[in-house]
Amino acid sequence: PRPIGIICAIPEEIAHFGAHFREEGADTVAGFAFRRGQLDGRAAVVVETGIGKVNAATVATLLLERFRCRVLLFSGVAGGLDPDLGVGDVVVADNLVQHDYGAVFRGEVKTYQPGNFPMPGLPEDHGYPMDRALLDKVRGALDGIDLPPLSAAATGGEARRPRVVYGTILTGDQFVNCESTRTRLFTRFDARAVEMEGGAVAQVAEKYGTPWVVVRALSDLAGQDSHMDFPSFVHAAAESAARIVCRLAGVV
Ligand code: ADE
Repeated sequence: PRPIGIICAIPEEIAHFGAHFREEGADTVAGFAFRRGQLDGRAAVVVETGIGKVNAATVATLLLERFRCRVLLFSGVAGGLDPDLGVGDVVVADNLVQHDYGAVFRGEVKTYQPGNFPMPGLPEDHGYPMDRALLDKVRGALDGIDLPPLSAAATGGEARRPRVVYGTILTGDQFVNCESTRTRLFTRFDARAVEMEGGAVAQVAEKYGTPWVVVRALSDLAGQDSHMDFPSFVHAAAESAARIVCRLAGVV
């Protein structure tokens, strides 16, 4: 069978797949290590892209073109935008928007679907909606999933179980570490999280007609403390995302 492609951006994200993955071989292409093997007994290729959209697009293209993956699953962390969510909560993208693609007009970025020339009258903020049938499958598979509890340090209050929610995730080539930007992105896009690769994977996968899933657990809240929260919570958040993606590998 054609393999599943598992994509992470950074070592902290990919680290949690070790226990589930039996490596059978590895190929380095364009400096990226593609590890071929079995994820819980299913053919898979696991790869770390490094940060940002170009890395992610390159790797997604190679997974589809050279490794013939039948579906792409992204597992990683993000900054939270929705004030209802806290560090450790998980967002599964039902739509991905590249928030830094578009035209700067009177001090604001007007965003467009990549590939569309930014012209007045074209629809904005199209994004890449996730395949609806696959989204239903994902919801079914994750209903009631047991994730490691969040520490009191992570929640800033009582220890609790992470929530799993669905919504728009933003992608851009910037780590957001700024309160006013966080507020602007949330208000403008009604998005729940921001990261740096998902929208690029979705763009490539859509071109190939291949389904994709992006799972992001919140390592920080993209505000003024995100540079401190990120190193504190990246491991725990990445573990939740990986646990979810391993579960999804069984249903996609
Ligand atoms: N990934 C994790 N936290 C992030 C943030 N605050 N901005 C962009 N990408 C992130």
